Amino acid sequence: MAAPADTDREWMAAAARLAMRARPLCRPNPGVGALLVSGEGSPRVAARGWTREGGRPHAEAVALDGYADGGATGMTLYVTLEPCAHASKRGRACCDVVADARPARVVIGQRDPDPRTAGEGIARLEREGIEVALLDDPASAASLADYFTLRSRGRPRVTLKLALSLDGCIALADGTSRWITGEAARAHVHAMRARHDAILVGGATWRADRPRLDVRLPGLGERSPRRLVLTRGVQPDGVTVINEPAAIADLEGALSLYVEGGAGAAAAFLSADLVDELHLYRAPVMIGDGLRALGSLGLGGAEGLESAHGRWQRGMSCRLGSDMFTAYQRIR
Ligand SMILES: NC(=O)c1ccc[n+]([C@@H]2O[C@H](COP(=O)([O-])OP(=O)(O)OC[C@H]3O[C@@H](n4cnc5c(N)ncnc54)[C@H](OP(=O)(O)O)[C@@H]3O)[C@@H](O)[C@H]2O)c1
Repeated sequence: MAAPADTDREWMAAAARLAMRARPLCRPNPGVGALLVSGEGSPRVAARGWTREGGRPHAEAVALDGYADGGATGMTLYVTLEPCAHASKRGRACCDVVADARPARVVIGQRDPDPRTAGEGIARLEREGIEVALLDDPASAASLADYFTLRSRGRPRVTLKLALSLDGCIALADGTSRWITGEAARAHVHAMRARHDAILVGGATWRADRPRLDVRLPGLGERSPRRLVLTRGVQPDGVTVINEPAAIADLEGALSLYVEGGAGAAAAFLSADLVDELHLYRAPVMIGDGLRALGSLGLGGAEGLESAHGRWQRGMSCRLGSDMFTAYQRIR
């Protein structure tokens, strides 16, 4: 395996940003990004690709297809995930497609844990005399987090979103929660919905608010995720019901789940340690005697408090109008 060059991480970060365009329509396949870069002294992007709807064609195939005759002699191909080593009815193995195009180098973000590839994509490229570098960089890892969670934990990656007052309430005491946050934060939530395969609320929120749980951003309506309700009760119309958080392992074809509360559903997912990412929207309002953001997590005493530490790492933070958005990742 060749050593990475200095600029490889920057190009890979660009490929990882492209990969975001694939999600979630590429399900059940991972969203992968690929960049074909030509020229050594002043490199430029010759072609770009990301996984297409339904999972095929794969990103490398799209990028190579987009470049004149598909040949890539002397160029570098950046791809966030190891090219697949298995052909399917819908396409050739990507390592063969790449080998035929004869790039000088292939820089790979992450090794593919799929046992049908798992290092074989890299080995085949090297057998063809193509230089391969494996980066294992944070940008490609983050762009593939859903896929890696599904592979390693056998369930979709879960993001829990909560819109909070400064004093940690998600609704007034009478249940009113429209709206705690402002327009910019709510638009951000819709953009997040558009990136997920499925969206869930607790039974009480479903009964109280009848949320549409769709994407209301221009041009993204078709990205509305599949709707789920967590309930031990009667199945409401038009949604899928799950009776316990662990049942998300049976959601076919879903790599990511967006949990939108309320407090009971949020606590149920946190107690089961099924939340991988927290998205907190904090509005500059005080509610006082309202509905707390979370139901019981069963913590008690000094031991409980100690176990609450060291679980979350702060990620991206930004202002959205007068609200603050902060993401936290579960440390595992
Ligand atoms: N600000 C925000 O971000 C936000 C977001 C969402 C909701 N809200 C507000 O939150 C309030 C509702 O919150 P809530 O805490 O009362 O209710 P909730 O979390 O929406 O729903 C609780 C219900 O979820 C089901 N459930 C919970 N744990 C479960 C488990 N382990 N297994 C199976 N089912 C389980 C049960 O449904 P069944 O009773 O059907 O069995 C339970 O009654 C509303 O006022 C809503 O407007 C605010």
